[in-house]
Amino acid sequence: MSDQAHPSPLQLNVNHLNHQLIVPHNTALLYILRNDLFLNGPKFGCGLGECGACTVLVDNRAVRSCSVPVKSVIGKEVITLEGLGNQEKLHPVQQAFIQTQAAQCGYCLNGMIMGTVALLKKIPHPTDIQIRHALNHYLCRCGTHIEIIEAVNIAAQLMTKDLSDLDQNVSTSQKNDNAQ
Ligand code: FES
Ligand code: FES
Repeated sequence: MSDQAHPSPLQLNVNHLNHQLIVPHNTALLYILRNDLFLNGPKFGCGLGECGACTVLVDNRAVRSCSVPVKSVIGKEVITLEGLGNQEKLHPVQQAFIQTQAAQCGYCLNGMIMGTVALLKKIPHPTDIQIRHALNHYLCRCGTHIEIIEAVNIAAQLMTKDLSDLDQNVSTSQKNDNAQ
């Protein structure tokens, strides 16, 4: 029997790692990520699902982690900013945002990047209108929107390049296997 005072353990998969946590099941996912798992990529902005600063991917969809209870992601794959790339190899979207210097204070960037990753999974080569539409509800108070749109376009190119490099490596290694 589980209640808010004595919650039962809860299994979470975050950034490809399984965690077992004893936390109230109705706690917002954002608090669990930041306070229990020490993942500070997702930011607290409005706490109301309005600004997008807290966005994470849940089964590849952009979700505002301030507005969903942790119990809603049981059995799903949660990816935070920290799970996209690493210091040796950044995710193409992270690379593109750095390349275009698409930030001033940077507070919105977690949401912009996670929203872009979700968009490019769905539409690999979005038009500017599709980018504006997808990122419309991610707030940037510093007004770096032009650079952000440029970053998304560059990210789309980098991701295509990564995929074709991968294809090339696979076909080279297949040729090498056949030659042996
Ligand atoms: S903090 Fe979650 S949408 Fe603003
Ligand atoms: S860069 Fe400051 S809020 Fe977007």
